[in-house]
Amino acid sequence: MVLADAAAVPSTLELHEIAESDHRILDPFTDAQLLELGAVARVGPTTRVLDLACGKAEMLCRWAQEFGARGVGVDLSEVFVAAARRRAEELGVCGWVTVECGDAAAYRPEPAAFDVAACIGATWIGGGAGGTIDLLRPAVGSDGLLLIGEPFWREPPPAEALTALGVGADDFADLPGLLDRFDAAGADLVEMVLADEHSWDRYVAAQCWALRRWLDDHSDDPAAADVRRFRDATRRTHLAYQRRFLGWGVFVLRPTR
Ligand SMILES: C[S@@+](CC[C@H](N)C(=O)[O-])C[C@H]1O[C@@H](n2cnc3c(N)ncnc32)[C@H](O)[C@@H]1O
Repeated sequence: MVLADAAAVPSTLELHEIAESDHRILDPFTDAQLLELGAVARVGPTTRVLDLACGKAEMLCRWAQEFGARGVGVDLSEVFVAAARRRAEELGVCGWVTVECGDAAAYRPEPAAFDVAACIGATWIGGGAGGTIDLLRPAVGSDGLLLIGEPFWREPPPAEALTALGVGADDFADLPGLLDRFDAAGADLVEMVLADEHSWDRYVAAQCWALRRWLDDHSDDPAAADVRRFRDATRRTHLAYQRRFLGWGVFVLRPTR
């Protein structure tokens, strides 16, 4: 992975492109949890899925392979979109899965063109869970489903956890608080699959490996100090706070308006 502007401070997206160069799933789910999500959301051969901020589109590709679902993904990262297209090719699902590069917040599908509309791990595109539900809702009909992948507090976080994670206490809710946020946004929680400590570790520990490898291969790179700082902070914050205080899951919602 070569940074676009070697002289500049790497962007958050570029740091993630390095950290997640080996990942297929860019969130704290394992492949088994991804397939479990497809099963609980009743994804099948006639299901049309929209995935905003799809990353490497592993969910669309695996659901096409396992369930025969059709999918459209949108992601900002050219690196991730290229990987998504390679993966669709590799799994033989190019005819089922299309991936576009662009700002998902600006993506406007035909009304009710999909059965399932998802935003997994990127609800900042709609300014939070409620805004992202508003963004996704027009894409599905009244019997469609919305999937939101979102962190939640497992325990009330101490101030030092908020500082380390770089968030405010209200940026996330606990699980009942998330239910309230979904209700307020006009979305009825009908199912969910939650990550666990093991799957969080798979997401973060695999980042540690990829970042260390990049640092070993780019010791003279002007961005090396920034990449090392990112690696050190990500690793320590996960071990000290994220693992204990933050949960993560995908929530299956039915629009109520
Ligand atoms: C945590 S990853 C989740 C990716 C994918 N949903 C998954 O779970 O594997 C966040 C993704 O959001 C993408 N992203 C961030 N801002 C975006 C935007 N405005 N439009 C489209 N994609 C965006 C990033 O490129 C990255 O792929």
